[in-house]
Amino acid sequence: MARLLEFTLNGRPRADAVPDNLLLLDYLREVAGLTGTKTGCDGGECGACTVLLDDTPRRSCLTLASAMAGRRVDTVESLAQDGRLSAVQRGFHEKLGAQCGYCTPGFIMASAGLLRRNPHPSEDDIRAALGSNICRCTGYVKIIEAVKHAAALHAQGAAP
Ligand code: FES
Ligand code: FES
Repeated sequence: MARLLEFTLNGRPRADAVPDNLLLLDYLREVAGLTGTKTGCDGGECGACTVLLDDTPRRSCLTLASAMAGRRVDTVESLAQDGRLSAVQRGFHEKLGAQCGYCTPGFIMASAGLLRRNPHPSEDDIRAALGSNICRCTGYVKIIEAVKHAAALHAQGAAP
């Protein structure tokens, strides 16, 4: 069965008839065409599929699309504004926080969620917020540096 859902996707109101058993990950990639959200393990373990639901990171491979009803959903495509990278995107770019980049949208969204909740995170806060995201390329040091840099950019006024 499908039901009509109304929600806000990347800042724009949207209404779609969504099957009850459709995963949010599949909705985003296959219905909305937002392929920045990646499919990794497809089982809740890697974090590549992380998006924000009302500013809280969620694994879209474990979330039904119906959870969007009446809520705000943000994907990595929402972050850059008017051609300018967000603080977290700049952090990863300027501190070389990505290698192959496959895990990066998930790390970026988990980091953006952290900065929206806690604009001045400690290194322990950053490690805790990213503790469930897996990167097969990096040693995580550059990723932590990237998020620290993002927090500094955010403190100077850049949107997370
Ligand atoms: S694809 Fe969702 S946690 Fe790995
Ligand atoms: S940069 Fe390749 S998996 Fe993280």
